[in-house]
Amino acid sequence: MSKLVIVVTGASSGIGLELTRILAKRGHQIYATARRPEQMKSIDGVVEILKLDVTDTSSIKNCIEHVIASEGRIDVLVNNAGFAQVGGWEEVSLDQVRAQFETNLFGALACIQAVLPHMRKAGHGRIINVTSVMSFIPAPFWGIYAASKAALDSLSESLYQELRPLGIRVTAVQPGITRTPLHNVMELPGKPVDAYTERRGRSFRATAFMERWTGSSPRFVAKQVARAATWPWFGLRRRVGVDAWLLWPLRKFSPLFVMFEGIRTFFWQDWSGLARFIVAVVLFRAALFGLIVLLL
Ligand SMILES: NC(=O)c1ccc[n+]([C@@H]2O[C@H](COP(=O)([O-])OP(=O)(O)OC[C@H]3O[C@@H](n4cnc5c(N)ncnc54)[C@H](OP(=O)(O)O)[C@@H]3O)[C@@H](O)[C@H]2O)c1
Repeated sequence: MSKLVIVVTGASSGIGLELTRILAKRGHQIYATARRPEQMKSIDGVVEILKLDVTDTSSIKNCIEHVIASEGRIDVLVNNAGFAQVGGWEEVSLDQVRAQFETNLFGALACIQAVLPHMRKAGHGRIINVTSVMSFIPAPFWGIYAASKAALDSLSESLYQELRPLGIRVTAVQPGITRTPLHNVMELPGKPVDAYTERRGRSFRATAFMERWTGSSPRFVAKQVARAATWPWFGLRRRVGVDAWLLWPLRKFSPLFVMFEGIRTFFWQDWSGLARFIVAVVLFRAALFGLIVLLL
């Protein structure tokens, strides 16, 4: 496979950092980007670490122009930068919601708009948008994050159709819960409401539980993103992780009330009890087994 010129956003940690390492090791021309490049250690094989804040259009422009000046082209853009704003819809300020969309949706779109003229001119290119399992299963108290990822997922689908005739491919990678710093740095609601406190807490404990026991490693997710970025044929969507593969049929085929009941049971459960932990592990394994039988 020839060397691809690849720009990765949000390469300072988690999935983006692992992806950068994997692609650089395979010999591609990687431009890793971060908000604070000066705080990043150099990564073997990476051409350069550049400054790019997806909410700052001038930093996007400077970064893309620099890569074009150095390489003459950009083959792949990986829109990976993102963060999680959580809390009930009543509890978050509109500014918090705007900030979430500013990074997760408008930031990705700004990067897409910056690379597309060059990809169109070259007659080929690939755009990978890292969305989330939450884009098709919006969990309670994760609605703001889920909405931003669902919007990015929807953008990916229409963009896919607009760009196919021009030789440019688009893939939305939908990871399930992954063990990265995202969960430590998620922003809490600005104006908490007492009526939600207990269920919000349970919802966060449920995701922490999932992260710990069933979460994918960032390296595993990054490998799938790397495939989407480099394989010649790749479809519009790619679910990554056991939870993503289990939840997708639930969304697609089960009646809404069954899905809501499942989500409520899981997210509003008191995960501190040992008995419940055991029940959860047994249920999870049974579901996994069922899925494997279904696929065989
Ligand atoms: N972890 C999960 O469970 C999970 C599940 C599904 C999807 N995802 C998605 O996967 C992507 C990577 O997240 P992660 O899990 O690897 O979390 P992470 O380790 O926190 O990485 C997020 C990256 O995005 C960067 N970032 C945030 N805001 C930015 C901005 N305005 N401009 C440029 N970079 C910015 C962060 O940079 P700083 O270091 O400067 O903050 C960091 O490098 C995100 O889009 C996330 O929504 C994560």
